[in-house]
Amino acid sequence: MSEPFDSTLGDETESLKKCIARSPFLWEELKNQSSKFRILTGERTTGALHIGHYFGSLKSRVTLQNWGVDLFLILADYQAITDRNSTEKLKQSIYDIILDYLAVGIQPEKSTIFCHSMVPALNQLLLPFLSVVSMGELQRNPTVKEEIALSGAKSVSGLMMTYPVHQAADILYCRGNVVPGGKDQLPHVEITRLIARRMNNLYFDGEKFFPEPELLLSEAPLLLGTDGRKMGKSLNNAISLKMTSDETAQLIKRAKTDSEININYDPINRPEVANLLRLYALCTGKTPEVIAAKIGSQGSSLLKKNLTEVVNEYFRPIRERRNKFAEDKAIVWEVLRDGNLKANEIANRTLNDLRSAMHMQYY
Ligand code: TRP
Repeated sequence: MSEPFDSTLGDETESLKKCIARSPFLWEELKNQSSKFRILTGERTTGALHIGHYFGSLKSRVTLQNWGVDLFLILADYQAITDRNSTEKLKQSIYDIILDYLAVGIQPEKSTIFCHSMVPALNQLLLPFLSVVSMGELQRNPTVKEEIALSGAKSVSGLMMTYPVHQAADILYCRGNVVPGGKDQLPHVEITRLIARRMNNLYFDGEKFFPEPELLLSEAPLLLGTDGRKMGKSLNNAISLKMTSDETAQLIKRAKTDSEININYDPINRPEVANLLRLYALCTGKTPEVIAAKIGSQGSSLLKKNLTEVVNEYFRPIRERRNKFAEDKAIVWEVLRDGNLKANEIANRTLNDLRSAMHMQYY
């Protein structure tokens, strides 16, 4: 397909630079003018959340919520099948993630929690949105390319190629104007902006029916899994929020280190030890260097012992709240039902307005 559209996606690094420069100002605005913003973010429903999610995104979402920003959290269950076929675990994942949200302080009275598959009008936006995006633009998306490379799959599904457009529907159905996320989300936000612009030009005479959302870049504190690889929900290398203290201790005990006895903070040459020190730092507010100096020649077993204590101490109140919420068998599904109800009202309105603008209200 040729590309009959106006601009194409901008230079990735240029927009990343802009995004980095803009982030502190955006944070200020979110704090001081919270009512101007609606945030849409969320996750694939591929398993319970872990401490990497906590320090990387959950913690700041709670802050934003408490500043008064209107927060929408999507449980992207259709996106969870981009790179896997099994759906048996979706329900358990959704259940776990909602409990995780409640445990860390997301309040359903303030924030809207909903899922893809139960908001039909959101999904229908995908069709007109797909019509304004070219194959070339889909194929150039660096995050999608990386996911395809990582998956090592022989063939690539249509959903894998188009989920960023679906994600645009996640954001635009409720007119989200800020999307917190890591830099891997930047290409998706860029295509969302492009879609918003093209839809506005095509069907709304350039009026800003859809906003052009901005990425609020999270300074993802890079936490690796306990095996030194990327921390992953399904890799058995992550300390999840729902783990017990004992399970946490087990995982930290097995964590990979190296053969050098003396503990120092050397992220380049000793990534696994550095990772444990960074986690320690996040839980205590001390610097990794100071922590390393204290342990010194006492080696990794003391580091692990102390780390276990500080991690369990840090997450104790969150885990207690989680267990408390879990005692109420109905709460999770009530929260989701309420969120879906609200999301459906908004999505129906957006879709109706769009269909009117597209001359598709036939009677
Ligand atoms: N792509 C996100 C992830 O990989 C999940 C997601 C789906 C999302 N829809 C979104 C994030 C909309 C931000 C906005 O976890």
